[in-house]
Amino acid sequence: MPFCWLLACLLVAAAADFSVSPADAALGINWGTIASHRLPPNTIRQLLLDNGIKKVKIFDADGHSLGALAGTGIEVMIAIPNEMLAAMNDYENAKNWVKQNVTYYNFQGGVNIKQAPIFKICSPLSYNGSFTNVTFPALKNIQAALDDAGIGDAVKVTIPLNADVYDSPVDNPVPSAGKFRPDVADLMSQIVSFFSKNGSPFTVNIYPFLSLYGNPNFPIDYAFFDGTATPVLDGGIAYTNVFDANFDTLVAALDRIGFGDLPIVVGEIGWPTDGEANANVTLAEKFYSGLLKRLAAKQGTPRRPNADIDVYLFSLLDEDAKSIAPGNFERHWGLFTYDGRPKFPLDLACDGHSRWPASAKDVLYLPAKWCTLNPSQSNASSKLSDNVDFACSSADCTAIGDGGSCSAMDWRGKASYAFNAYFQTQYQQLESCNFQGLGELTEQNISQAICNFTLQIVGWSSAANSLRHNWRMLAAVGGILVLMY
Ligand SMILES: *[C@@H]1O[C@H](CO)[C@@H](O)[C@H](O)[C@H]1NC(C)=O
Ligand SMILES: *[C@@H]1O[C@H](CO)[C@@H](O)[C@H](O)[C@H]1NC(C)=O
Ligand SMILES: *[C@@H]1O[C@H](CO)[C@@H](O)[C@H](O)[C@H]1NC(C)=O
Ligand SMILES: *[C@@H]1O[C@H](CO)[C@@H](O)[C@H](O)[C@H]1NC(C)=O
Ligand SMILES: *[C@@H]1O[C@H](CO)[C@@H](O)[C@H](O)[C@H]1NC(C)=O
Ligand SMILES: *[C@@H]1O[C@H](CO)[C@@H](O)[C@H](O)[C@H]1NC(C)=O
Ligand SMILES: *[C@@H]1O[C@H](CO)[C@@H](O)[C@H](O)[C@H]1NC(C)=O
Repeated sequence: MPFCWLLACLLVAAAADFSVSPADAALGINWGTIASHRLPPNTIRQLLLDNGIKKVKIFDADGHSLGALAGTGIEVMIAIPNEMLAAMNDYENAKNWVKQNVTYYNFQGGVNIKQAPIFKICSPLSYNGSFTNVTFPALKNIQAALDDAGIGDAVKVTIPLNADVYDSPVDNPVPSAGKFRPDVADLMSQIVSFFSKNGSPFTVNIYPFLSLYGNPNFPIDYAFFDGTATPVLDGGIAYTNVFDANFDTLVAALDRIGFGDLPIVVGEIGWPTDGEANANVTLAEKFYSGLLKRLAAKQGTPRRPNADIDVYLFSLLDEDAKSIAPGNFERHWGLFTYDGRPKFPLDLACDGHSRWPASAKDVLYLPAKWCTLNPSQSNASSKLSDNVDFACSSADCTAIGDGGSCSAMDWRGKASYAFNAYFQTQYQQLESCNFQGLGELTEQNISQAICNFTLQIVGWSSAANSLRHNWRMLAAVGGILVLMY
């Protein structure tokens, strides 16, 4: 899930074109890199091109990612990490950051500047003052630095906010009654007014999956787009899905403070496929099919009909090293698996037709070896659970956790899964399949009918690459988005 699902985030968006012209209507996608084994940036570049992706959001100004995007024409949005926000309160630092991470790439033939870098600042909207004290000043400094660098018209700063900053009153829970939460209302007014003056969009993360996850009484059909037995009636409008209702609650909240026309970007939206009862490929496919169908139809929402909504899907790939504090599903938001295989057909072209996306090309795997529980072991010893815990403390065991796709395996299967996950994460080093004598190496694919056992990819490390230094030679037109986390 989003880095900041519990947090409200600031997004800085640049870009001349948050107004809704059909040419800009391409789908965006979030490209996160918190994986134990990363696909090489150039493999991702090809994957994006093969699938016609026109816009990408990345979570830091990593030179390798930006280098891979140079020359592709792909518009890029970059985040600024949260921990850098305090430093950005010093204007000189903000200026340096813009110089090194934006202006550097922002020239004809570099990363797409026509659509302009979008700076996305995502930071904890902790309502105790740190936001007003740190994030908002950082936002203003970055924009001022962009203006000084002469690219302020093209590149804007915005803050991705979670949908928790607005709501409707409990006694009138309809979108048209939407308003910003009282404790952040003043702050939101200041921010929104800054956005408006500056030509930045409001950026919001909308997660119907989390609405469902957080509320056992949430009607499941309301999370999708196929209508519902119990629509929310709002004046003459029947809301049949939480996306429309959520989006329009925001529109109403903006309207209420005088900015009803402010452009809105959906910075993150998606559905995970593992790690929780409702996180599976069937439901994810259903969600994306409904979402993309309506985006393709450009039907907008009841309060903004016929609008071409600007959307960044969350996310490109599964990321097996993300924090699972939000839930085990957090590592399974990818439209593609860790090794770049599509999970289900979808309409990435937004032309009304679902098809299987292209897979990542020329992916290199580790040798066909797995680590398994030595079959002669019994489950009696506490040694087993200690070793499983050890393996899972640094490898991804979410598939065997509650609600996971492999949770139906017996204890042997689960122990083997854990051992293998660790062994693969450790690049199959021999000693990483020891587990105090409980582990055993095998060259037989130990996948079971109900569970695939991972074979990791070779993995890419930035140290071995120096794209940053030669990317300028690539011909490019692209955009940049900056996020602050
Ligand atoms: C961006 O610029 C700053 C200098 O202000 C630098 O320290 C940082 O490493 C750069 N790169 C990223 C990814 O933020
Ligand atoms: C309050 O602000 C401080 C920073 O000044 C931060 O460390 C802390 O986590 C914040 N608390 C909450 C509840 O947001
Ligand atoms: C924010 O600034 C105010 C005024 O300078 C100060 O009183 C408050 O403690 C600060 N809050 C945080 C979380 O730093
Ligand atoms: C996906 O999840 C739904 C809801 O929990 C469940 O009814 C359905 O059987 C699941 N589908 C698969 C293929 O697991
Ligand atoms: C241990 O294994 C036996 C059979 O080998 C099984 O009946 C029992 O449920 C297992 N115990 C645990 C805690 O998994
Ligand atoms: C292992 O077996 C599973 C299930 O049959 C299959 O999907 C997977 O591709 C196999 N892996 C390798 C490396 O052969
Ligand atoms: C295992 O992976 C293959 C693709 O390699 C897929 O077709 C199959 O459904 C997977 N099996 C399970 C149980 O997830």
